[in-house]
Amino acid sequence: MKKNLVLIGMMGSGKSTIGRILAKNSKKKFYDIDKVIEKENGMKISEIFKKKGENFFREIEEKFSIQILKSYGNIIALGGGAYLNDKIRSEIKINSISVWLKWSANLLIPRILNSKTRPLVYKLSEKDLMKLIDTRSKVYSKADYKINCDKLNKNEILKKILDIYNK
Ligand code: S3P
Repeated sequence: MKKNLVLIGMMGSGKSTIGRILAKNSKKKFYDIDKVIEKENGMKISEIFKKKGENFFREIEEKFSIQILKSYGNIIALGGGAYLNDKIRSEIKINSISVWLKWSANLLIPRILNSKTRPLVYKLSEKDLMKLIDTRSKVYSKADYKINCDKLNKNEILKKILDIYNK
């Protein structure tokens, strides 16, 4: 059976946008884990962080990510922090191909700095964000594939992902 295609990477790297287009073009199902969590909890991610805290969010993120990763042949966008979870990474290994959408920090930071919908970065300075990108990149680099997106347009990114998935 066909594996899932899992998009990973920092907030603002385009996982949801690219994933949605990929799914539409290939007539596959698309799961945006953040959206699944919001729907199941009847709250926006920022509200979950505020009312229940990050630990609670990470627990349900683990639960829903693993549940959905057990499916086949779907396109899945993980939340930016999900790939840091060992159990989620192990689940991806079983049945999915992971692709890291990599952007340089100088392109990523202006996109996400002060974002009100992203509770994790809301209070971070540019320097903190730089550190976060640096630490996370070491883990993201464990993905099966990496796409350097800096110089690519959306269609070029889509093509690269499809080439990987249809290999
Ligand atoms: C997070 C990224 C967000 C969301 C939550 C935490 C993170 O998802 O899961 O705010 O830890 O990087 P996106 O990467 O889709 O913005």
